[in-house]
Amino acid sequence: MKKILVTGGTGYIGSHTAIELIKNGYEVLIIDDLSNSTIDVLDRIEKLSGKRPVFEQFKLRDSAKVDDFFEDYDIDAVIHFAAYKAVGESVQFPMKYYKNNLVSLANVLDAMKENNVSGIVFSSSCTVYGQPDVLPVTEDTPIKPAESPYGRTKQIGEEMLQDQTVADTNLKAIALRYFNPVGAHESGENGESPTGVPNNLMPFITQTAIGMRDELKVFGTDYNTVDGTAVRDYIHVVDLAKAHVKAVERLIESKSDKQYEVFNLGTGNGFSVKQVIDSFVKSTGVELNYSYAPRRDGDIEQTYASTTKANDVLGWKAEKTLDEMTSSAWKWEQYLLSLK
Ligand code: UD1
Repeated sequence: MKKILVTGGTGYIGSHTAIELIKNGYEVLIIDDLSNSTIDVLDRIEKLSGKRPVFEQFKLRDSAKVDDFFEDYDIDAVIHFAAYKAVGESVQFPMKYYKNNLVSLANVLDAMKENNVSGIVFSSSCTVYGQPDVLPVTEDTPIKPAESPYGRTKQIGEEMLQDQTVADTNLKAIALRYFNPVGAHESGENGESPTGVPNNLMPFITQTAIGMRDELKVFGTDYNTVDGTAVRDYIHVVDLAKAHVKAVERLIESKSDKQYEVFNLGTGNGFSVKQVIDSFVKSTGVELNYSYAPRRDGDIEQTYASTTKANDVLGWKAEKTLDEMTSSAWKWEQYLLSLK
């Protein structure tokens, strides 16, 4: 059984990916510092996949621990999720982001080389494109200067991977640029658990609907879009998780065309904030309190992915609809409430 190290495996996307990997016959080993997740995620992964991953809690900034881990386990490939991801916080504490996100990646890459582990999948983001001049966004769309230190850590992370593929001719790396991951496992028993007040749209919607927040503010009504609200390519987290299984397969089966490859992961459909709200209300039958507010600083008008490369080369396609995203997110929010 192939052993996959999933760093950040108790996080939102990491935990859904762990479930899909196990369901596809991989053994999952997780390293997570639990800085933005909790240990009970392991129970959920076990319940939903049938197997409990190996787990160790430590910071990947600790290179000695990373080296020990790689010596202890015979790892076949790595999926590197572990990173801080709050845009606003990264502006306030940029060094926290550089230290955590980049030193961790450097330690993982060093340990991989030392232990002859030749495949890594990296969590990148559509944020590297900024507001693209042409839509949909292909993998050849120019990278724009990052809007935040968080965004810059994703850009630099990709460059670190490219540099390492030059230095280490055995290394194969795949950067996956996620658009807007939302939704939850169909069981409603695994999903996103934001700490504090959520910045992202979907958790804010479900927390408002359940009464934790007074109202949702729709940021910006004067964008040049279908209804004036901003447009994003929302992608169901389980579809996203399945793309990681495909990427790992590609590495393990030596199917990569080049040492360093990039794929956009989205549905190819842009939806406005208003359309997301309408989908939520329609798919759940729950009313949502919202009002219109000025644009949020740093927000772009619209973005959505070209899915051609992911479809044709990676052999993956997002299958779930916007209604499935909003209704599963709601199911998960209710599940969280039932645990209280
Ligand atoms: C944000 C991050 C991006 C990150 C991504 C991860 C910013 C500027 N960008 O993207 O770097 O990779 O999350 O998923 O933070 N909205 C509201 N009301 C709310 C919350 C959001 O109207 O209370 C709107 C936003 O203005 C935006 C859309 O909903 O138009 C989506 O917002 P969000 O979920 O925060 O994602 P992004 O801003 O696209």
